Amino acid sequence: MCGIIGYTGSGSCAEKLLRGLDRLEYRGYDSSGISWLDEKGKIKTVKSSGRLSLLREKLGEALPKSSCGIGHTRWATHGAPSDENAHPHCTDNVSVVHNGIIENYFSLKEELIGKGYTFDSETDTEVALKLIDMYYKKEKDPLSALTSAMSRLKGSFALGVIFRGREGELYAVRVGSPLVVAFGDDGNYIASDIHAFLDKTDKYFRLEEGEIACVCPRGVRVTDRDGRERSKEILTAEFSLSAAEKGGYPHFMLKEIHEEPRIISDTARSMAELPIDKIIPWDILDGIIKEEGNIRIVACGTAMHAGLIGKYYLEKFARVSVEVSYASEFRYSDPIMHQGDVLILISQSGETADTLAALRMAKERGVFTLAVVNAVGSAIWREADRSLLTLAGPEIAVASTKAYSAQLVLMYTLAAKIARAAGRLSEEAETAICRGLSDTVPKAVEGIAARDREIKRLAEILSEQDNAFFIGRGIDRYLVTEGSLKLKEISYIHSEAYPAGELKHGTISLITEGTPVVAVITDKNVADKTISNIKEVTARGGEMIIISSDDIDIPPELSKTVFRIPSIGIKGNCEKDYSGIFIPFSAATALQLLAYHTSVLRGCDVDRPRNLAKSVTVE
Ligand code: AGP
Ligand code: GLU
Repeated sequence: MCGIIGYTGSGSCAEKLLRGLDRLEYRGYDSSGISWLDEKGKIKTVKSSGRLSLLREKLGEALPKSSCGIGHTRWATHGAPSDENAHPHCTDNVSVVHNGIIENYFSLKEELIGKGYTFDSETDTEVALKLIDMYYKKEKDPLSALTSAMSRLKGSFALGVIFRGREGELYAVRVGSPLVVAFGDDGNYIASDIHAFLDKTDKYFRLEEGEIACVCPRGVRVTDRDGRERSKEILTAEFSLSAAEKGGYPHFMLKEIHEEPRIISDTARSMAELPIDKIIPWDILDGIIKEEGNIRIVACGTAMHAGLIGKYYLEKFARVSVEVSYASEFRYSDPIMHQGDVLILISQSGETADTLAALRMAKERGVFTLAVVNAVGSAIWREADRSLLTLAGPEIAVASTKAYSAQLVLMYTLAAKIARAAGRLSEEAETAICRGLSDTVPKAVEGIAARDREIKRLAEILSEQDNAFFIGRGIDRYLVTEGSLKLKEISYIHSEAYPAGELKHGTISLITEGTPVVAVITDKNVADKTISNIKEVTARGGEMIIISSDDIDIPPELSKTVFRIPSIGIKGNCEKDYSGIFIPFSAATALQLLAYHTSVLRGCDVDRPRNLAKSVTVE
């Protein structure tokens, strides 16, 4: 899940490892540590729970001079965040950092205890370490020890490993969790993602499933599980260092929200000319249109919420029914899928374990898989039958904002293109939707981002509270689901989202004097109904914050805390009324800013909320 960095070269490793860990902080972590080989080739390790500054404090002023080492930021899965459980884990002979989960750790641990090994931590990682140690003692060769250990370990794991006395040698193993190898001027790196070394080099390659890299200062050798040598193509990272820096904003999240107008426009333009049969093959599409095949969208968290908006527009424009599932549920639900169905997987990172597993399951059943990802070369990107790219660039803040907006663009475009192919949307309307996404929407979102102060005033109401509710109907119901997730993940306010009409079926019992309720009303067709639900809340003392489009009449007694969004949609000759179809983009940005300001006012760590990781590579 979290960060791995390793360096071997002519320079000293400690500062490079710490710098790399700094750059991986955005992935979320609870402890950190580094290991290096001292001048006698012995393994030395320093680790600490808490922030990286505490690790730096422990290391003191005089950083080790060694030129080969590994570092880690841990996101605890097995055992509490503590000094003992922090990585690296070491024996006299081996030091290991690990991302992911060893699923069969328990049986292996018993076996190793039987062989005389003792354990100092509660982690699954220590089991992998002792297993490698055992094979290393037997086989005396790092590569064969790693290959033997790999054949026994189950689960998802990326490992960074150094061995006593093997100066200059750094080993990397990839099964499930991502790992990259990079080439710098004064040495080479391993890391869990390219941000770790972007300030040093942009030349890298990704390790594939089951590969082991032996990285030395002057070269890299990659082998597969059977010891066969693999050749790798060296890639150039496409995004610049500035993407991983704050560029004058106090937080990455705010910077990323302000990038949305450009990203929406770039993503829309990249899709505009793409023919639908380059996205979904004709024969499959034809079956979908004739209702012989089904569309399912599978994703996690925010990406899943983008999928809900996708469902809304696929059904609205194309009149094909769409099911949306959480990937973690989907994979164990024995889903009904057949050849001729389409499975759309949405993922910012392209590495989310549950989403990846859903993809693999669908492929096994001959289902056509279409990925919507933000990371070229990620596992989901590579393994799907077709992959579409959201052009959001690297998203550093743990809370997803700009990637969500870009995912919405793809959902709208896909819906419009499928609808056009089905003959359920005119060419004129399809063109207007694509043009609106690249021109009108970015301007509107820019307008919302500029009204930061107004949103901050609304955040002042929320920031004093411990609980909040979000309500909406129709598409607004999907928007508030994401708004509520955003608020809880970065401000730690307990928050729940409901279809507005559902409140009275139970939840309204929680509304008392001063309970904050955020209502979103962008859908004119159900506005009156939502307003009635709002009245039910205010009658019980609830305090409303309303985000609504400016063509909806809000009764004067409710208009104290209303944030008005200009209505944007398609004007002209369309088969239906599409006049407000783009408002969700503006509402989404407003909700993101609301969560952002609430988090800042509450003094939370906006970009690195507690307990969360950016890339969730465990199930
Ligand atoms: C978003 O703010 C979250 N931190 C989280 O829900 C995220 O969207 C989810 O883990 C899915 O990640 P992915 O898009 O990388 O697959
Ligand atoms: N499962 C390991 C642990 O709990 C690694 C977690 C991680 O990916 O950071 O220590």
